[in-house]
Amino acid sequence: MTDTMRSAENPGLAPIPGPTPPPIAGPALVAAAVPVVELRGVVKEYAGGVRALDGVDLTIGEGELVGIVGPSGSGKSTLLHIIGTLDRPTAGTVAIAGHHVASLTDRRLSALRARHIGFVFQAFHLAPGVSAVDNVAEGLLYSGLPRARRRRLATEALARVGLADRARHRPHELSGGQKQRVAIARAVVGQPDLLLADEPTGALDTASGEAVMELLHALNQEGATIAVITHDTEIAQRLPRTVRIRDGKVVADSARGKVVV
Ligand SMILES: Nc1ncnc2c1ncn2[C@@H]1O[C@H](COP(=O)(O)OP(=O)(O)O)[C@@H](O)[C@H]1O
Ligand SMILES: [Mg+2]
Repeated sequence: MTDTMRSAENPGLAPIPGPTPPPIAGPALVAAAVPVVELRGVVKEYAGGVRALDGVDLTIGEGELVGIVGPSGSGKSTLLHIIGTLDRPTAGTVAIAGHHVASLTDRRLSALRARHIGFVFQAFHLAPGVSAVDNVAEGLLYSGLPRARRRRLATEALARVGLADRARHRPHELSGGQKQRVAIARAVVGQPDLLLADEPTGALDTASGEAVMELLHALNQEGATIAVITHDTEIAQRLPRTVRIRDGKVVADSARGKVVV
């Protein structure tokens, strides 16, 4: 019942209390309030004293598409490794979908990674001699699903990246752009909370690179949360948010609308 209806039926009277309205923040909205990525004061030092990350604060919310940009050696890949829980920080805290990385054993961390995070790398990292569909199905290896179901989901994921007709092809029978789309299908087949891509267009010609970026934009439109490293300023300009790294520090974040140092 709308307020207009109420006042028409009860002129001059207080509205009749109706059934309790649902809370504004339903379960889905409460879940959305937990950031997918939350880094606080993250430092990463490599053996030999290289401080690759120097106090990084970064929050990525559900449904964001974030570009991580910066010069070579600035710490972008290190940041992606830390976000991806492939590496632990020297100092600071990392929480992925509300799970604090420091409190997890390596085994639990692997499980978290398998369940929550998909990775895409510049060099594709497909298994050679293995068909596209089986490469994609590998993304579900730790899902506990039976093989037939994994292959069916993999076939669907390949269709989603426009490669339904290449399912039987092995990597050496695919172009660079197609290989990267297979890698993206493998990364998203398990519907991770977060897709991380390190220079996914770095080994591709312009047209294939654009197709890959279009695919990432489309996946984001469907709800995927994505962080993508790029040194291509044109690609970065088209992303809704960019985080700029220099010397291991966040020096600008378009989400905050200003340069931070
Ligand atoms: N495994 C490692 N061991 C030692 N130093 C490293 C390692 N990985 C990266 N570095 C150093 O950390 C810094 C940041 O590297 P990286 O994160 O790869 O930067 P980017 O991806 O922006 O090019 C560089 O100085 C690099 O040489
Ligand atoms: Mg790098």
